[in-house]
Amino acid sequence: MNQLLAPVIAIDGPSASGKGTVAQLVADLLGYHYLDSGALYRIVALAALRKNISWQDETALAELSRHLCIEFKDGEILLNAQIVTEDVRTEEISRGASEVAIHPQVRLALVDLQRNFRALPGLVADGRDMASVIFPDAATKIFLTASAEVRAERRYKQLMAKGIHANLSDILQDLQARDARDQQRLVAPLQQSAGAILLDTSQLTIAQAVDTILSQHEAK
Ligand code: CDP
Repeated sequence: MNQLLAPVIAIDGPSASGKGTVAQLVADLLGYHYLDSGALYRIVALAALRKNISWQDETALAELSRHLCIEFKDGEILLNAQIVTEDVRTEEISRGASEVAIHPQVRLALVDLQRNFRALPGLVADGRDMASVIFPDAATKIFLTASAEVRAERRYKQLMAKGIHANLSDILQDLQARDARDQQRLVAPLQQSAGAILLDTSQLTIAQAVDTILSQHEAK
């Protein structure tokens, strides 16, 4: 069977909406492959920082993005064969990812890389433009969101659990700045695309969100 026929579940949504956790669980339960597209923008931001390339320098960033050696292996993220799983999750790199992601040439440079994740028996892809740009023919499209306050609280708890000191109102402000940058950019802005089902997880557990997506996908 052609790899292109592998079904895709596209899960888009704002920062800290729980996309990553939910998408990974859906992929595990179905035995599908998983694409964390945000990790790619995070890697671009990290690689640029290490090479002294400005997050504003679109041409240099695009060139860098075309030549990245990225692997996802055993739950780890590798850049040029080095584990960078923790390095790409810092608050600095979170901000950098949303800054490099505004550049059309950077987004274009990452399109084929993302589409190459599509393979049988299927793919769960999470990000901002999975349903609109990367996999417009996705079998199931979900727009996963939650109120900014709930998302800030989730991020706060995550950081505290890791022993990282954080301030809830700073986190909320940072999330809102990132939401604005993601929604207002000219290319592939964060939005609920046509045909996507809105799933607000403010009052849902992870298990309930996963079940909802599985039943939507089974209904197809
Ligand atoms: O974990 P969180 O949802 O905060 O971020 P992420 O999904 O890892 O994505 C990091 C940044 O990459 C986001 O703030 C977006 O600006 C950008 N991104 C994007 O533009 N398009 C995607 N498909 C995925 C992420």
